[in-house]
Amino acid sequence: MITSDEKLMSTSVVDITRRLWPALKPYRNKFLVGVLLIFLSSGTEILLPIIVGETVDAAMSGGHGRQLLILLCVAFLTVTLLKAILETTQAYVIQVTGQGITHDLRSLLFTRIAHMPVPYYDRNPTGRLLTRVVNDIKSLSELFTASISVLALDIMIITGTIVAMFWMNWRLAGLTLLSFPIAIFSIRYFGFRSAIAYRKIRLRLAEINSFLGENIGAIATIQRLSAEKERYDSFEKVVISHQEASLESLKVFALVQPVTNTLNGVAMMTLIIVGGRWVIEGRVSIGLVVAFLGYVRNLFQPIRDLVEKYNTFLSAMVSAERVANILEEPTEDELFAKMSNGSEKPVIAPQTASIVFESVSFKYPSRDSLALKKVSFDIPAGHQLAIVGATGSGKSTLIRLLLRFYEPTEGRIVFGGRALDQWDRYDLRKHIGVVHQEIYLFQGSVRENLSLGREGFSDEYLRSQCERAQLWSVIQHRGGLDMNVNEGGTNFSLGERQLISFARILVFDTPLLVLDEATSSVDRRLEKRLMEAIHELLSTRTSIVIAHRLSTIQECDEILVLDHGHLAEQGTYDSLLSQGGIFKKFHDIHSRS
Ligand SMILES: Nc1ncnc2c1ncn2[C@@H]1O[C@H](COP(=O)(O)OP(=O)(O)O)[C@@H](O)[C@H]1O
Ligand SMILES: [Mg+2]
Repeated sequence: MITSDEKLMSTSVVDITRRLWPALKPYRNKFLVGVLLIFLSSGTEILLPIIVGETVDAAMSGGHGRQLLILLCVAFLTVTLLKAILETTQAYVIQVTGQGITHDLRSLLFTRIAHMPVPYYDRNPTGRLLTRVVNDIKSLSELFTASISVLALDIMIITGTIVAMFWMNWRLAGLTLLSFPIAIFSIRYFGFRSAIAYRKIRLRLAEINSFLGENIGAIATIQRLSAEKERYDSFEKVVISHQEASLESLKVFALVQPVTNTLNGVAMMTLIIVGGRWVIEGRVSIGLVVAFLGYVRNLFQPIRDLVEKYNTFLSAMVSAERVANILEEPTEDELFAKMSNGSEKPVIAPQTASIVFESVSFKYPSRDSLALKKVSFDIPAGHQLAIVGATGSGKSTLIRLLLRFYEPTEGRIVFGGRALDQWDRYDLRKHIGVVHQEIYLFQGSVRENLSLGREGFSDEYLRSQCERAQLWSVIQHRGGLDMNVNEGGTNFSLGERQLISFARILVFDTPLLVLDEATSSVDRRLEKRLMEAIHELLSTRTSIVIAHRLSTIQECDEILVLDHGHLAEQGTYDSLLSQGGIFKKFHDIHSRS
C-alpha cells in the first residue's frame, strides 16, 4: 500500500508554489531580490576564471602588459570582494525570507488544525499532525532557505560556465566537457537512489517518533503489565531498520565523491593534454587553459551539492504537498459557511434554551452501524433531562451532535428554537457548558484553566465559583487560584480535575449545562454535596445530566433510557420504575451494589 508518506513526489514546483501562494505572497519581493543576488553572484563565479586567464596572458606577454596586469589584479580583487559581499547578502536575504515563510506557515497550519471539524481528528492521529507542524514545516523551511538557493546557484553556475567555455573556445570546451554528460547522468542516478534511501530513513524516523510518543505516554501501563521487554524488542526492530536505511544512504554518498572526482580528473587531464598541446602549437593562449581549469572546478564542485540537495528538495516537496493539503482542507467555519449560507448570530437567553431531537439517526464516518437510531425527544427550556444507558449506548454521541462536532445522518436537532444548522458553531458552543468524563487541563495556573485566558473575571468571582464547585478546599492550601497545573492536569486526581471542569462551566455560566458522567471519579459524599451545590443552578438552567449513579438524577424532569442507540424508555424516575423495563433493571442492580 502506498500512503502519502511513501510517495516520492507527485507534484511540480509550480503547482506547489501556486498552492502555497497565500503564505508566500508577502515575501515575493524579498524572494525575487534573493534570486537576483544569486544570479549576480553566479556571474562573479563565471567572471573570475576569465580574469585569471587574462592575467596569466598579460604576465606572459612581458613589459608591454604591465599596466594591463595591474588593472587585471585590481579587477580580480574587486570581483572577489563583490563575490563575497553578494554571497553574504544573498544568504542573508534568502534565510530571512525562508524563516519568515516558515514562521507564517507554522502559525497558519496550527490555526487551521485547531479549527478542523472533529471528524478530522478521527482520521488524523495526533502524531501525524504533530509531524506536519514540526517536521514538515522544518523540511519546507530547508526548501526555501538551503535547497532553492543552492540549487539555483549551482544550476546558474553550471549553465553560465558551459556557455562561457563554448563562447571562449568551442573546440576546447567540447573536448573538455566530454565526460560531463556522464556526470549529469550520475547526478540523476545517485539522486534517485539516495532519494529512495532518504525516504526510507524518514519513514523509519517517523516510526521511531510515534513509537516513543505512544510508549513514553503509556509507560506506567507498560510497567504495570510488565511488558518492558516486549516493548523494548519492538523498539529495537524499528531502530535497526532505521540504521539499515541510513547505511544505504551513506553507501550512495560514499560513491558520489569518488565518481565525481574521477570525472573531474578525466576532464582536467583532457584539458591539460589537449590544451597544453594547443598552447605549444600556438592555437590557444595559456591564459585560456588556465581559465578553463577554473571552469572545470566550477562544474564539478556543484554536482556533489546537487545530489545532496536533490534529497532535501524531494522531501521538501513531499512536505510542501502535505502542508498544502492541510491548508486546503476546509475548516469548520468554512464547512459551516457552505452549509448555512452564513446566518446572523443569535444569542439566546437561558429561558429559551430548549432542545428538540426530531428522529435523529447518526453513523460515525468510520463505522458501518448506526450509533443513534431515530431518536426523538423534546426538552422545554429550564428543564432537567437525564440520560441513562449502558456503556456505548450512544449517550455521549448525543452530546457530540448537539455540539455540532458531527452532523446527524438523518433527522434534525433544534436548540433554542433554531435548527442546529442555522447556528454558528462557535456561538452555539458558547451556549453549552459541558463537563466531561475525561478532562483535559492545560498547563498553567488554576486561574487560567478556569477563565481559559479570557479577561474580565475577578478573583472573588472565580473563588466563589470554586467554592460552589467544591474545588476551593482542594486548592486553598496549594496556592489557590495561582496553583500550578501540570500539562494534562497530572498533579490533580481524576476527581479533582472534574471539580476544576465543573468550576469552569460555572464561571462561564452557560444557558445549557451538560454533565457527561461528570461525577464518575468523585466519591459519593462529594458527589452528593456537589449535586446539591449546583442544584440551584440546574433548576434555573436547561440541563442534561448523563449519570452513572441513579441517585443523582432522581430530581430530573425527564429521563431518557438509551439502548444500543435506540430511545428505549422515557419518563420520570417514578414512572420508569413502575414500568418495570430496562430502567427498573438498572435501578435494581445499582441499589444492590
Ligand atoms: N469517534 C468515534 N468513531 C467511531 N465510533 C465511535 C466514536 N465514538 C464513539 N463511537 C462508538 O459509538 C457508540 C456510542 O458511543 P458513545 O456515545 O461514546 O457511548 P456512551 O453511551 O458510553 O457515551 C459506541 O459503540 C462507540 O464505540
Ligand atoms: Mg460516554
